[in-house]
Order: sequence, then C-alpha cells, then structure tokens
Amino acid sequence: MYLFKKNQDLQTYLNQARNQGKQVGFVPTMGALHKGHLSLIEQALQENDLVVCSIFVNPTQFDDKTDLVNYPKPVEKDINLLQQVGCQVLYLPDANEVYPENIKLIDLDLNGLDKTMEGAHRDGHFRGVVQVVHRLLDIVQPNALYMGQKDFQQYTIIKYMIQQLQLTVRLVRVPIMREADGLAMSSRNIRLGKQGRTKAALISTILFEIKERAKEQQDLLKLKQEALLKFQAADMSVDYFEIVDANTLQDLKHWKEAEEIVACTTVRVDGVRLLDNILLKS
Ligand code: PAF
Repeated sequence: MYLFKKNQDLQTYLNQARNQGKQVGFVPTMGALHKGHLSLIEQALQENDLVVCSIFVNPTQFDDKTDLVNYPKPVEKDINLLQQVGCQVLYLPDANEVYPENIKLIDLDLNGLDKTMEGAHRDGHFRGVVQVVHRLLDIVQPNALYMGQKDFQQYTIIKYMIQQLQLTVRLVRVPIMREADGLAMSSRNIRLGKQGRTKAALISTILFEIKERAKEQQDLLKLKQEALLKFQAADMSVDYFEIVDANTLQDLKHWKEAEEIVACTTVRVDGVRLLDNILLKS
C-alpha cells in the first residue's frame, strides 16, 4: 500500500493512474477503523481499479474540543487493517495539507438538512463535514465516493452538496455493518461497559420491530409513538427518534408522503451516543 502525506505526491500518483484509465474509488475516514469502514473499502475495491482511503481527524466538525483531543488515533493498527483488506492508497495528511493558509472553504446553505436530528445536537458539525469532504474531493478527484448508511444524515447532506455543486463524482451508500447481536458497528462501541453493551443491542432490535410494524401501521406519528414506548420500556435515553423522508430529512406523518422513508435515532447508553437507522421504505 502506498502512503501519501502530501497532496502533491498523492496527486502525481493518481494522475498517472488516471492516465492509464484507472477508475478511482475514495473512502474518507477519521481512522480508528473497524469492520464497518472496511466494508466501504471492500465495496470500493470491487467497483474500482484503485481505492484511496483517507485518515484525517477533521477539527472543523467537532463542536466539543475535548472530543477532538480524545479522539482515538491508532494509526499503526489502521495501516495494518488497510493492508489486510487490500487498499492500495492511504492518504494521511496533516491539517496544513487539508487547510493551507488562505484556502477558501465552501459555505453551502444546506437548506435545513443540517438543523434536524444530529444537527440539532451538534452545532456546526455538518458545516465542518461538508467543508472537509468537499476539500478532500478536490484533492483526490475520485470517480466514486463511498459513504456509510450508518451516518444517514451525513450521507444525505453530502448527496445534497454533490447535487447543488453539480459535482461529477458518483456517491455510493454502503449498508450498515452490524455485530452478531445487531448493534451497528461504530468506533464508539468500545466505550460501552458489559451491561451497556448488552443494552445497546436493543436499539437495532427495536428498529427491526418497527420496520415489521410499518407493514401494517402507516400512520407514522403512531409508529413513532410505538418506537418511543419501546425505548422507554427498555429504560433507554433517546436523544431523538424520527421517521423522515430520506431526501429532505423532514418528519413524515404518513407512509404515502415519501418514496424513501428512514427511521433515524440516537440513543445514549453508558453516556455514549449511539446512532442507528433503518430504511422503512426504499
Ligand atoms: O464519517 C466520518 O468519519 C467523517 O465525518 C468524514 C466523512 C470522514 C469527514 O471527516
């Protein structure tokens, strides 16, 4: 695997590959890789000649600076995992490469997509995500960009950015990877205690039950109420549970209001915020 820290070295290498007609797939990450990330890379490897993974802990998307300082950075372990899975290029820049002085970052109006759900809890977070993904796309110039369904709101916002700016990159949504008991894979899961870990598995159990119920219950306000009661019965602290249009992220009242419907939630277990979602209609 090639490892590039400087934009110019990466770009020289990728230009050569492109001149040879190679298709480039790109998986941006903040490191602390787990099987969920690796599934993005595996899918990118199947669909492209060359895969670039970036590891960059982006300061502009952290509203809480302690989170940024404490963010795990197991770079050696990540490099090993990337090699095992067959990733060809790792881009590991420092902040000066991504944000050199005088760089003009985009400030796109996200049409309210950034204000609901995660956005309501993390001020400025999605603005930072859009800035860094836009900047990374500019540096890597991939044919295809791979993002996980796990962060559904992030995926939708990046899709919106690509449409608004008429970028030519193909965006691929990769399904959520789950542990054997259903818990969505996340770098945060290691922060759970033993009991918390068992409890956390109930999040996906509830989501799957709600998906089943949606076959009969098309009043989505009632369906949401059912979900909230289930979380309450499991003694779980819910930051939000919303049933939304997958494109606009607006709350829905009825099944017929949208073509693609997703239930998104964030639940706190052991003080850890766990995100999950399920497509109810697609
Ligand atoms: O999902 C992530 O890991 C980050 O938000 C991303 C897309 C790499 C941008 O920093």
